[in-house]
Amino acid sequence: MNKQREKTKEILEKVESLGIKAIFLTVDAAGRGKRESDERLKADDEIVINPVTGEQAKGGKRGNGLTRTMGSYIDQGMTWCDIQWIRNITSLPIILKGITGAEDAKIAMQHNVDGILLSNHGGRNLDYSPPSILLLLEMHKNCPEIFNQMEVYIDGGFRRGADIVKALCLGAKAVGIGRTFLYALHYGTEGVEHLVQILKEEMEGVMKLIGIKNLSEVHPSLVNTSDIDHLVPDGADHPYVKWSPQPRL
Ligand SMILES: Cc1cc2nc3c(=O)[nH]c(=O)nc-3n(C[C@H](O)[C@H](O)[C@H](O)COP(=O)(O)O)c2cc1C
Repeated sequence: MNKQREKTKEILEKVESLGIKAIFLTVDAAGRGKRESDERLKADDEIVINPVTGEQAKGGKRGNGLTRTMGSYIDQGMTWCDIQWIRNITSLPIILKGITGAEDAKIAMQHNVDGILLSNHGGRNLDYSPPSILLLLEMHKNCPEIFNQMEVYIDGGFRRGADIVKALCLGAKAVGIGRTFLYALHYGTEGVEHLVQILKEEMEGVMKLIGIKNLSEVHPSLVNTSDIDHLVPDGADHPYVKWSPQPRL
């Protein structure tokens, strides 16, 4: 969401006319992450680093700060009410990208969004943010009802066909892949096609070995999560620290 709302409005209207099928709204990037290697990077001054605003790389004490500059257009004041603002402009399905907890998933459901994408920016924005696959388990533990009412997607760290099949077994509708495609794109269309082929072959290999012929046959008991079950939170509260802030007045 651009803080210059008119620009977001323009994009929303444009993509609808181009035949785009859904809007993914990033909801977990009100602030930029601390990315030290990014800060050290000295990019060419001429580089346009923000395709949305046309902004160019800036030098300075903290390097070119690609993340800093790229994030500068983002509306930090966005709230749940803004979902309605988007709905007034487009009838496309809305998926909230960056849901990292069951409480937010429940509120997303109350706002009748079409889906959520469990994501932590591939672990690149906030240290200690929960891995997406744990979030998927947290949803089953604390708000299983969401799976019947909206589509649940996931991304972050999916590298192999087996990773994708695991997420599907645990109820994800689809898996997003970021950096792997970014790197493949370095080799153009051929690279991307090659990557898709590798993932397809890996998935088919896994499917044969676990004994299913179709992805509609995936089910949770094909995955043993017992090694990580103890990491899945029971609810929004801390399990035993019950400290709460005192009123100041
Ligand atoms: C270079 C780069 C730029 C990204 N920019 C954005 C962005 O502008 N908005 C956003 O929501 N996520 C952004 N992401 C995060 C991806 O959408 C996705 O969540 C993440 O890459 C998935 O993890 P993976 O790379 O491990 O597959 C970016 C990721 C990369 C690698």
